[in-house]
Amino acid sequence: MTIDIPFADAFQIDPSPMWARLREEQPIARVRTLAGAEVWLVARYADVRFVLADPRFSRAAVVKDGAPRVALAKPLPSSLTTTDPPEHTRLRRLVSPVFAHRRIEQTRPWIRKLAEELAEDVARAGDGADLRELFALPLPIQVICELLGVPYEDRDRFREWTELGYSMSPGDRERVDTAMTDMQAYMAGLNTTGLLGELAAELSHDELVAFGVNLLVAGHETSANQIASCVATLLRFDLWEGLTDFELAVEELLRYNRFSEVGQLRVAIEDVEVAGQLVREGEGVMAALNAANRDPRAFEDPDELDLGRQSNQHLSFGAGPHFCLGAQLARIELQESLRALRTRFPHLKLAKPAEELEWRRVLVSGLAELPVVLG
Ligand code: HEM
Repeated sequence: MTIDIPFADAFQIDPSPMWARLREEQPIARVRTLAGAEVWLVARYADVRFVLADPRFSRAAVVKDGAPRVALAKPLPSSLTTTDPPEHTRLRRLVSPVFAHRRIEQTRPWIRKLAEELAEDVARAGDGADLRELFALPLPIQVICELLGVPYEDRDRFREWTELGYSMSPGDRERVDTAMTDMQAYMAGLNTTGLLGELAAELSHDELVAFGVNLLVAGHETSANQIASCVATLLRFDLWEGLTDFELAVEELLRYNRFSEVGQLRVAIEDVEVAGQLVREGEGVMAALNAANRDPRAFEDPDELDLGRQSNQHLSFGAGPHFCLGAQLARIELQESLRALRTRFPHLKLAKPAEELEWRRVLVSGLAELPVVLG
């Protein structure tokens, strides 16, 4: 039986029971994506890692004609996310120094200050303030603009492009295509400073544009969603006031929260056996990070949120060659967001029950709103 993905009960605070059912009863299953493609979905931790790390599962093949698609937008070729080694290795080697742990740590004081300033905007808005709009979204957008050397004044434009780029609403189809073309034209026309300026000498023009689009899209919506989800989860379980170890808490929240309502897509470039099933060359496989992060074979009491959890090898940033380039930056954004908000609003509360919060129907899922009472 083919199951439609996103599942019918997706886009709400608790994971669809389907994730656990598949992981326990059907570790490799046939699913149909919104774009109408039939692909495999693997749900166990070991299988997810295997698919993400094995070179027989390709990202470059995802942009070939006739390849299975997950969402409406067509992925850009020649980008980090749509190349395989050795081309991917070359691109990744060029950009990695900029995202190296030590270099990215230098941005922490600036991100801390930004988080403190945005917390003041929330304070000015008073009770009922929407933390997504006033904090979770502007923080990563400002960070990525600064890092890339993209003007912050243009944020409304690329916020709209990104939302369309991740859209899972079939009615958006035409607007998605226009948004992707506009975004590439914008990047191509930019007089780049910052990181893109540094990379201009190393990358071809097309690669530079693809990289800029990649980072702008990958670097803000994901972090914005996670900032909002982390706050909502902590408030929901009354863990806000007792929060002290931000680094440990962020890792567990990343494991516990969902990143997406689908899996990460790869295409087999030869026949490969996965979870006892022969996957044929040309077939798509989605690696379900969500389901893997709650796999009892990898985590003790996986459905428990344990802020003190040690050796937490969650897969929220992926695994293998495409492991999230911005992982350390995202960690800093999350840690500093929680620190600033917890310090400024020690008695923060949700303004409505977590179960009633609106979710956005997009590829990288997250809250559409986060109204809070400042306390
Ligand atoms: C909490 C926030 C974030 C989460 C949960 C996240 C998650 C992920 C995941 C799961 C992947 C792997 C996708 C795959 O293998 O198919 C990925 C890749 C990537 N991420 Fe992130 N990400 C976050 C923030 C960021 C930020 C802030 C940036 C940039 C500044 C970024 C840039 C990238 C890039 C460029 C890739 C592609 C890497 C490659 O293909 O080699 N991400 N991210």
